Amino acid sequence: MARILTGIQATGTPHLGNILGAIRPAIAQANDPANESFLFIADMHSLTQIKDANALRENTYAVAAAWMAFGLDTERSVFYRQSDVPAAAELAWYLNCFFPVSRLELAHSYKDKMAQFKDSGAAASVNTGLFTYPMLMSADILLYDAEQVPVGKDQKQHLEFTRDVASRFHNAMGTEVFVLPEAVIQESVMLVPGLDGNKMSKSRDNTLNIFDDPKALKKRINKEIETDGTALEDPKDPDANPVHALYALIAGAAEAEHMAEQLRAGGYGWGHAKKALLEAVVDGFAAERDTFNRLMADRGALDEALRAGAERAEGVAHEVMNRVRVALGYGAR
Ligand code: ADP
Ligand code: TRP
Repeated sequence: MARILTGIQATGTPHLGNILGAIRPAIAQANDPANESFLFIADMHSLTQIKDANALRENTYAVAAAWMAFGLDTERSVFYRQSDVPAAAELAWYLNCFFPVSRLELAHSYKDKMAQFKDSGAAASVNTGLFTYPMLMSADILLYDAEQVPVGKDQKQHLEFTRDVASRFHNAMGTEVFVLPEAVIQESVMLVPGLDGNKMSKSRDNTLNIFDDPKALKKRINKEIETDGTALEDPKDPDANPVHALYALIAGAAEAEHMAEQLRAGGYGWGHAKKALLEAVVDGFAAERDTFNRLMADRGALDEALRAGAERAEGVAHEVMNRVRVALGYGAR
């Protein structure tokens, strides 16, 4: 049984790209009896960017509701909010004391942020949290004896820092208290196109938010997907815009092939195709949308699920922290 752990950024309601590209595969892995999964919403990391209590809380709820709506079994997996287990912050402090500034300065994420801020003429607003971000992330991982950490390519260096800081701690204190985690780099298995044909991404404002109500979905699909003015009776290229590709991802290969044939044959318009896409989104995710809305309307249920997860996480964290505290000479708590 492998202990798998991953953190999820709390940046807003997950869109179709997040769901198909990240949430569904992670849930399949978490629900697999061969694994033991720790999944948490990284709301302390989000604080490096978001300074709005309401937005932080709402984003966290939306992410939690989305994962639960897509079938994450919160009894099987340990699902929690990072900020509910503050031991991560304590461990991050200890790790800070074992890691050279010169190494942190080499972090791609930090250098990118510095460059971005510099371009906008505001280098001063790179906060210290952004700088020490990899130490909090290392703490998230080491605190739970995680063996495997599935992450995107952009997080690979953070995992190297995690192994590095754990080894430095071991060498300095002369005792091994941490499990050295392996990064499991996920090559994007799937690339969901956005409504403008580019990769779907929050930052591009081209997302399909499947939890929206049917009216809003209809408006978004009709307005944001640009189709050319080919006459209804003329043959059409299914790849001329993202309607067919999105339909294929939701409705499946057989249905998609049928739509492609109709488009190529002529007499079938982009309006028809958009209507089919809308129906596929509305009907295909009806159960998930209901659950999402039910959970978002019942914060008590979400709080309860996250609280129970945090309690289980804390049980593990407590043991690991005692190993760390003893190694440091502070003594167990
Ligand atoms: P965004 O680009 O909207 O900010 P994130 O970068 O926060 O999304 O991505 C969160 C997760 O969702 C990552 O695992 C990422 O690989 C996945 N993901 C995001 N957009 C897509 C997409 N268009 N297709 C497939 N997976 C995606
Ligand atoms: N930094 C990760 C990201 O941006 C999120 C994260 C925080 C994380 N802590 C983690 C991922 C621990 C894996 C393990 O996506």
